[in-house]
Amino acid sequence: MSQKPAIYKGLENIYIDESSICFIDGFKSKLYYRGYSIEDLAANSTFEETAYLLLYGRLPKREELEEFKGLLRENREIPNEVIELMRKIPRDVHPMEALRTIVSYLGNLDPARSDLSLDGMHRKSIALTAKMPTIISAYHRIRTGLDVIDPDPRLDHSANFLYMLHGEKPPELWARAMDVSNILYAEHEMNASAFATVVVASTLSDYYSAIVAGIGALRGPLHGGANEEAMKQFIEIGSPDRVDDWFKSAIAQKRRIAGCGHRVYKSYDPRAKIFKEYAENFVKIYGGELKNIYEIAEKLEKLVIENLADKNIFPNVDYWSGIVYYGMGIPIDLYTPLFALSRVVGWSAHIIEYVRDNRILRPRLYYTGELDKRYIPIDQR
Ligand code: COA
Repeated sequence: MSQKPAIYKGLENIYIDESSICFIDGFKSKLYYRGYSIEDLAANSTFEETAYLLLYGRLPKREELEEFKGLLRENREIPNEVIELMRKIPRDVHPMEALRTIVSYLGNLDPARSDLSLDGMHRKSIALTAKMPTIISAYHRIRTGLDVIDPDPRLDHSANFLYMLHGEKPPELWARAMDVSNILYAEHEMNASAFATVVVASTLSDYYSAIVAGIGALRGPLHGGANEEAMKQFIEIGSPDRVDDWFKSAIAQKRRIAGCGHRVYKSYDPRAKIFKEYAENFVKIYGGELKNIYEIAEKLEKLVIENLADKNIFPNVDYWSGIVYYGMGIPIDLYTPLFALSRVVGWSAHIIEYVRDNRILRPRLYYTGELDKRYIPIDQR
């Protein structure tokens, strides 16, 4: 057998291509989309503008942004067949599983589903980005026995999502918090879900198949599912005075702290810092149970940093985001769908970029099984 090759378990530090979409400096807590720092975008941009930036590689001029926002608004509605499908999905599935099915079905209904041209890919990316809030809110309302609410063209992308979810126009703080959340979650280089999308796209399969693969990968608790797990963990702890004991026992059981640790960040995730500021604002205004959860999270964060920083474990984006969502009355099992709601932009940008200079993704496995075994007929085994 050939000499054992180097094996890169988990593909850590393997570069599969060049890219101009996103840069992460995991030791310096730095994240850039197309060269703009995440802090700058979170402070000054909007989700729509950031989506344009990620998809087209530059900030839009005013007329370009207006046209782009118009396209997003026009594409918000979902066909009745999709609403009918939502009613048939078993009530006990996780909304990420429902999302996977719904996006797949939307692909079936798109006559241009196999169009891999640059224009076609941009068109599909915009149409799906526009529909994600409608899908997630409509599905949630159907599964909880409520009427589906149509999109409101007077509202921007993020505010319209909250309106369709809750049935009321959101307060300014909620609309901005949702918009910043959508900016922070829109893109993050070649993570597991982005990789899943480009693996599928690299076979020259269709856009929807690639996105469905991304949704499947995002769902897991080691990836996007961590925002739900982090919130469940704070609720499980119950009160700030139980944090010390909980942490000791978690460490003794070698349990992972949800929302902490990252393959690339070996320092505090810059997105977590921004979410934490929003969480603080929400706590100041709403107090009560939210304050209790925030205090648990803050105490646990201190213990993580004191005890695990030498292993480069710090809070990541999913640690604080749930507290902001909780403050807006969003059910915990919608937190990962919310991640998908904006990450669809990053996935789309990667699919478009990768396929422009495509090479099928096909790694190897080092075989350690036996060879030259003789076939044994079934009645002699
Ligand atoms: N809590 C406690 N210890 C952790 C940890 C966490 N959240 N994440 C990693 N570690 C420890 C591991 O136990 C391991 O310790 P060891 O060397 O003593 O065995 C070490 O850190 C390295 O872990 P490893 O699994 O090799 O890291 P990875 O790069 O493969 O995994 C994650 C990265 C994100 C999957 C991992 O940090 C994790 O499971 N985090 C929790 C889930 C999460 O928040 N995911 C969202 C990421 S945005």
